Amino acid sequence: MKKEELIEIIEKLKENRDLSDAEFLALLTTDEEEVRQHLFECADNVRRENYGTDVYVRGLIEFSNYCKNNCYYCGIRKGNQKVMRYRLTEDEILECCKEGYALGFRTFVLQSGEDPYFTDERMISIVSNIRRNYPDCAITLSIGEKEHDSYQAFFDAGADRYLLRHETATKSHYESLHPEEMSFEHRLKCLQDLKEIGYQVGAGFMVGSPYQKTKYLINDIRFLQKLQPDMIGIGPFLTHGDTPFSNQPNGSLEFTLRMLSILRLCFPYVLLPATTALGTIHPLGREMGLACGANVVMPNLSPRRVRKLYELYDNKICTGEESAQCRGCLEKRVASKGYQIVTDRGDVKKS
Ligand code: 5AD
Ligand code: FES
Repeated sequence: MKKEELIEIIEKLKENRDLSDAEFLALLTTDEEEVRQHLFECADNVRRENYGTDVYVRGLIEFSNYCKNNCYYCGIRKGNQKVMRYRLTEDEILECCKEGYALGFRTFVLQSGEDPYFTDERMISIVSNIRRNYPDCAITLSIGEKEHDSYQAFFDAGADRYLLRHETATKSHYESLHPEEMSFEHRLKCLQDLKEIGYQVGAGFMVGSPYQKTKYLINDIRFLQKLQPDMIGIGPFLTHGDTPFSNQPNGSLEFTLRMLSILRLCFPYVLLPATTALGTIHPLGREMGLACGANVVMPNLSPRRVRKLYELYDNKICTGEESAQCRGCLEKRVASKGYQIVTDRGDVKKS
């Protein structure tokens, strides 16, 4: 397809927030540098129209790396015997929030593997304590697949948001990334339940995950268009040496950036993080992500001693820093691109 036609497709996407499959495919596969640059610029313009130059920060607390699942891509899968497992206590989690609040965080993201130790009762206690101590903060959970009533109970205890990446909207692909015990249908049901309960919901996927085809990414866009999530988390797939995918290559930086811009144009209001995986694949990956439509960063608030242990993929960044260092580092990185971190819950601005 000619350069001019591709530029026109981008204009059309900006206008209609949608394209045909063939048009999406053309954008995803073009090698034209000028077209890519135009796509990135348009995404940045749309981001500025909706969120100005503000960047929202989320304090990420990785409170347990125990997991009962065995996803083939993930470094903390149950089958990885080499991981030293840890859990934070409720007091340690509250201590992270205290430190985070002082650093200007107004959203806490509690993330863990699917750890049966953290029963509904324990989670409800943690969530309600954070809610009581920090009434002006948003609480985001990212603790995997649960049943409807558990999600409802966490919501009633004060959780506002939930992150559960769908990983891929193509069933056969889902099955090549996960063992038989895991169900594509259940994952989608979880996202539906979360929406119905009233959470601000985040879905998402890895770019360049093993066996991914370009057309599957179009399925992902179609799926997101139906779900209408408030947040979309994407990052490149990154190899972890102690998983069944240890010989699979990393996803690509360029392709992730392209996908970020397309998502910004499809979902002008969406909260789109420049992820840690993006910062891991390239030292300036997060900065590039911000310039391509991303408007959220998620620095680590976990105690330093456990950071290295929450290793979903090899060479994860920010494992040696204290929370305050990470916060300061990001402040500079964000400013280097002409944006600024704001002290704000950073709720979605849906038009
Ligand atoms: N590379 C990149 N992202 C990964 N995740 C898990 N393992 C990897 C990996 N090897 C992502 C998944 C998961 C999120 C918490 O991290 O998409 O949903
Ligand atoms: Fe963590 Fe730079 S963001 S050290």
